[in-house]
Amino acid sequence: MQLTDSELFRQQAYFDGRWQDADSGQTRTVRNPYDDAPLGTVPDLGVDEARRAILGAQQTQTEWRQRSATERADGLMAWHGQMQRHREDLARLMTLEQGKPLTESLAEIDYAASFLRWFAEQGRRAGSHSAASHDADHRIQVIRQPVGVCAAITPWNFPAAMITRKAAPALAAGCTMLVRPASQSPFSALALAELAQRAGLPGGVFSVLTGAADTLGRELCENRTIRKLSFTGSTTVGRQLMQQCAADIKKLSLELGGNAPLLVFNDARLRTAVRGTMDSKFRNTGQTCICANRILVQDGIHEAYVKELVTAVNALRPGNGLVDGTDQGPLIDDAAIEKVEAHIDDAVRRGARVLCGGHRLEGRLFAPTVLVDVPVDARLAQEETFGPVAPVFRFDTEAEALAMANDTEFGLAAYLFSQDIDRITRASEALEAGMVGINTGRISAAQAPFGGVKQSGLGREGGAEGIEEYLEPKYLCLGITTDPDD
Ligand code: SIN
Repeated sequence: MQLTDSELFRQQAYFDGRWQDADSGQTRTVRNPYDDAPLGTVPDLGVDEARRAILGAQQTQTEWRQRSATERADGLMAWHGQMQRHREDLARLMTLEQGKPLTESLAEIDYAASFLRWFAEQGRRAGSHSAASHDADHRIQVIRQPVGVCAAITPWNFPAAMITRKAAPALAAGCTMLVRPASQSPFSALALAELAQRAGLPGGVFSVLTGAADTLGRELCENRTIRKLSFTGSTTVGRQLMQQCAADIKKLSLELGGNAPLLVFNDARLRTAVRGTMDSKFRNTGQTCICANRILVQDGIHEAYVKELVTAVNALRPGNGLVDGTDQGPLIDDAAIEKVEAHIDDAVRRGARVLCGGHRLEGRLFAPTVLVDVPVDARLAQEETFGPVAPVFRFDTEAEALAMANDTEFGLAAYLFSQDIDRITRASEALEAGMVGINTGRISAAQAPFGGVKQSGLGREGGAEGIEEYLEPKYLCLGITTDPDD
């Protein structure tokens, strides 16, 4: 059955298996970042509604955890089927509220759905094991049980995939999940709830709470019924949430900021390196945590690489994401534009040269930009820019490149381009990052563990590791008598 516009743009929150308004009747308006047009409103829930939602999730969890892993997997696969059936509608909705080009929205819907399939499969494999005993009259078994009621606070840059990457392993493990989506992109989250309901998931298994980040975030961190919080967003906010969760010793997964280096060595294949840079840097208009933020290029290939990169960047077409051919959407808000401008101004003041772009276009569009001669103390090198800006730095030796790459408090992703297997091995082992792309700029996949080191976060999402975050091992020690006559 098709989704009508009112089912696609759900204007109510979904918890305890019902579509609900705020007790206060207050709402928040959601706007299209491309032209600022209002798209609709969502409820501004308060603490009371959040507590009722958590209670509902707790009651459902008792029943959900009793189901077999196969039944839970069937539920996730039914949800996956709903996402596939409505992929065009979901993608259009995403472009309207987030701005990314339709082709990227379609790719994100597929990526989001792939977590439902992957964790449906992984849930069925999450078994127990026994261990060799410490003495003859004991037996050791380790069972793995669901953590309990879980919560997720998710970002606007991937409005669907960051939800399924957290909810799918939680549900597969036997947990229930409450999601507080970003204020800029709640409709994608609510559409996922509509499809979860259609897929027959029991009410309370998956809930979406809309409202102020500080009010709902604090309740999700401090409410003792919630046993785990998963957050994707900035390191600053991650640190605050960690403090709020501390009193309760809540389990945490944090996928935080990045400052990804992308290293191009003299022996790299030029076209592969430029394609990889474009894939990494300009995906989602540079608004991803794993975007190349610093492009480090060796002296011998610098001139040729920069020439090809500028040609590729000049070919990008910024515009309305709904229009065919657009490959760069708007930035999410005015603050994002101002940050990009401030980073470019700072670099130019310090001696960098703008080779293309460097300025706003109409609305919230920003001309894709390449800068060279960027000094390492520029803000572009120190902070996450989160925009369509490719700053190119120069290096001479491998040791110099690795020192520059690791000179950051972040450690989410890194990329390197080379054809020398010895160099690839040395460099990928030396890079301080949770993920390394080698001769590619596309590293995201449901099958792979996503996450960072240093101040880029804790835990992993996706891969075989992702479900472990939602399971607690329990050790059972069985004392037996070895004497049949005892
Ligand atoms: C992110 O930017 O936070 C996620 C990107 C991805 O999963 O590819």
